[in-house]
Amino acid sequence: MPTAAPEAPAAGEVDLSVDLGRGLVLRNPLLVASGTFGYGIEYGEVVDIQLLGAICSKGTTLRPRRGNPPPRVTETPAGMLNSIGLQNPGVDGVLEKYADIWAGWDVPVIVNVAGESVDDYVEVARRLDGQPGVAGIELNISCPNVGAGGLQFALDAGAAGEVTAAVRRATDLPLMVKLSPAATDVRGIAKAIADAGADAISAVNTLPGLAIDRMRRRPLLGNTFGGLSGPALKPVALRVVYEVAQVVNIPIVGIGGIGSLDDVLDFLMCGAVAVQVGTAVFADPVLPLRLVDELAEWCAARGMSSYRELIGTALPQRRDKPSVKQSEYRP
Ligand SMILES: Cc1cc2nc3c(=O)[nH]c(=O)nc-3n(C[C@H](O)[C@H](O)[C@H](O)COP(=O)(O)O)c2cc1C
Repeated sequence: MPTAAPEAPAAGEVDLSVDLGRGLVLRNPLLVASGTFGYGIEYGEVVDIQLLGAICSKGTTLRPRRGNPPPRVTETPAGMLNSIGLQNPGVDGVLEKYADIWAGWDVPVIVNVAGESVDDYVEVARRLDGQPGVAGIELNISCPNVGAGGLQFALDAGAAGEVTAAVRRATDLPLMVKLSPAATDVRGIAKAIADAGADAISAVNTLPGLAIDRMRRRPLLGNTFGGLSGPALKPVALRVVYEVAQVVNIPIVGIGGIGSLDDVLDFLMCGAVAVQVGTAVFADPVLPLRLVDELAEWCAARGMSSYRELIGTALPQRRDKPSVKQSEYRP
């Protein structure tokens, strides 16, 4: 007797859930990136935010910050530069304003944390720990370590590991640490972060850039430098995810220039288990939710009952033996 072909799942039956560690299980792998979705409240009237995988909040620091002088953003070919300067009301202000609201939501809110010293990060994490409505922490370590001559934590494996370990000791919250695309040895930094007890890694933050105001013959942004984001960043971000996926065993969340289903698929195939959408949200706040549906439909059309079958499929076969070279790229 011929056996009937297994029935293809309907899009609604495709399993999109993803485990980012320490009990942080998301309904789907589409998150919104820090700094591009405020504290979640702002988009509530345009988007059914409860259907997102998670919301990464705006960067939060120990004390309130006014941010950088204007102009703070400018367009570039295939991207944008921003130098917001972490304007925020400080961790106590954030909790006072938003924690109760977040606690009533289905969608997990991951609070993005920035600091200028290990102690700063630890104190913010300590204050977030156990607060209703805070589902996890994402550490933005692309910040100058003031006590160490201003070198960014994210550019030094020792500093990245140290701040991760210190925050790990301060909280039981799920902890995701965000890589900088500017690091020369991104594998060493990722390994240090994983060894220090992070539950997940997000990759990447913006890439430092500069724009010139030719009329005034000086840098355009008030803070001189800005972070490059958008489509221009995507190949760099993919390369980082691809490299890091071969050296760590914790989940990786891909970020950088995601604006379509093809972009999402590329990151998943390079080893990301989930993605964050950033700059593209400004032009189209509904995009992340559309991508959830498109991912489910794409999988269903191929008879896949879970999107997880896609993860890491573009990686070299011998996952246990990563290249000894520091970077695959050779000019
Ligand atoms: C206006 C703006 C503000 C941002 N603020 C933060 C922040 O506070 N903390 C952080 O970790 N990343 C911040 N980012 C970086 C994004 O979360 C993301 O990593 C980056 O923009 C790359 O993704 P994209 O190309 O999809 O925008 C910001 C990006 C933009 C454009």
